Amino acid sequence: MLLPQLKPLHITNNSQPNNQTPDLAIIIIDEQDIEKGQIKSKNILSLDNEMNGTISNLIGLGDFEGKWLQTSTSLVLNQKSAKRVLLVGAGNKLNYMPARSRQIGIKCAEISLSLKANTIFFHCSSQLCNTKELIAQCQIGFNMGMYKYPNSNMKEETKLELEKPIHLNFINTVQNFEKSLDETKHLEDSINFCRLLQDSPPNVATPKFVAHQALEQAKKLGLKVDIWGAEKLREKGFNAMLAVSSGSANEPQFVVIEYSPEKYNKSIAFVGKGLTMDTGGYSVKTPSTSQEGMKYDMSGAAVTLSSILAIAKLKLPVKVYAIAALCENMIDAHSYRVGDVITSLSGKTIEILNTDAEGRVVLSDALYFAAKELKPDYIVEFSTLTGAMITTFGHVGAGVFAFHPELEKIIMTAADSTGERAYPLPIWDEIIDDIKGSISDIINIGNTRGSAGSMVGAAFLNEFTNNIPFAHIDIAGVANDNHSIGYIRKQSSGYGVQLVTEIARILAK
Ligand code: BES
Ligand code: MN
Ligand code: ZN
Repeated sequence: MLLPQLKPLHITNNSQPNNQTPDLAIIIIDEQDIEKGQIKSKNILSLDNEMNGTISNLIGLGDFEGKWLQTSTSLVLNQKSAKRVLLVGAGNKLNYMPARSRQIGIKCAEISLSLKANTIFFHCSSQLCNTKELIAQCQIGFNMGMYKYPNSNMKEETKLELEKPIHLNFINTVQNFEKSLDETKHLEDSINFCRLLQDSPPNVATPKFVAHQALEQAKKLGLKVDIWGAEKLREKGFNAMLAVSSGSANEPQFVVIEYSPEKYNKSIAFVGKGLTMDTGGYSVKTPSTSQEGMKYDMSGAAVTLSSILAIAKLKLPVKVYAIAALCENMIDAHSYRVGDVITSLSGKTIEILNTDAEGRVVLSDALYFAAKELKPDYIVEFSTLTGAMITTFGHVGAGVFAFHPELEKIIMTAADSTGERAYPLPIWDEIIDDIKGSISDIINIGNTRGSAGSMVGAAFLNEFTNNIPFAHIDIAGVANDNHSIGYIRKQSSGYGVQLVTEIARILAK
């Protein structure tokens, strides 16, 4: 089985149009660029001249004021600089710029697709695309907006249409932009890979499938890859991970990818929850509608496995491990039960009080392995761990439970620069006490049941990190289904790929 192909996108920088007029000129316009129906910006005025007044005529109609994500299109009168023009409003809210620039890119892709534009000139005259970082976010947004997990019954003619590449040319005055274009391309490739893994249906994206896809990509970059199946996991004592997968016909897979550059000062392990399907097990998710979307329960693993590819291509001087604990939480006669006590890899015993709190159980072995065997300077773990996270931050941001102030700062700095919303949350002693067991060291849900769900999950995970500086990032709300952060479709988001890469970049300094 292969991952589906995405529509190819070629991005250039200030390249001159060949003898063909581009299909579309996109112009991003700030509110302050327009006053009483008149264009104020010199850049836009000169474009308007080239286009024989098309832009001023369009704005003169009075329905476009440059408000946030407002759009207007017109045929270009002289058909010279482009066949059509698209004005996109950037508004005047200049806080939280990277995410806004990305959202502009998404909007532009959405409209370009509907106009069937194949050659596009993107004029960066707004404040939301006047630095290489912000243009990079527009570019990433455009790539995200073009992404579509193909229908597996694709007709031949749609396939052909998909293969026709789109050319996007950024017209800008930023210095040294070529390098930034290439770097951004690596991020885009990782984001696409992550999203394809996330969106693949659970009968396709089994633990073996995901592990195999990651292996293929990592091999191309010469990275060291270890994949352990059930037999090896049994031999090593990964009893917690095996317990969760015991009801599944699909063998669990534990993946460790290592990127070790010649020079580095710091090392970090990124660990991802990889439930390719979570039915809840015997504590079954009812109504069954709550099982919808549980193919996305492997998003943490998708993030770690794809980000390391970008980190390696960027040749960052930091040692990085990407770990994925892949398995399914299913129901059959062999499934683990409520009441079972499991001796995890760490030697700590876990009483299972809810088979649906499986992520933390799987991660207990993965984290302990990372801490004990790899001994990195930091461990950062990504998981769709708790529904309570969605109650807390909706589908807009992730919760960051860092058990280490310096690591928390690194993560928050990274999140600010990539515009992936994240917010620090506490871990209180009272909650740590709430998971003490009576016939085991620890229980997999709080004694108080249900309350402080996300913090309980975080406290549980921290028991297995052997005092290595650790942070848990709960991406349950942002892994998929996030219209609220500007994505077009109710599918994967690739959230976290930029964040992981940025954390690595900070550690590489
Ligand atoms: N994968 C789920 C968390 C989840 C729920 C992610 C909804 C995305 C959307 C996780 O395994 C789970 O079921 N958690 C339980 C924990 C509870 C039993 C303590 C939850 O959040 O309800
Ligand atoms: Mn669950
Ligand atoms: Zn789960």
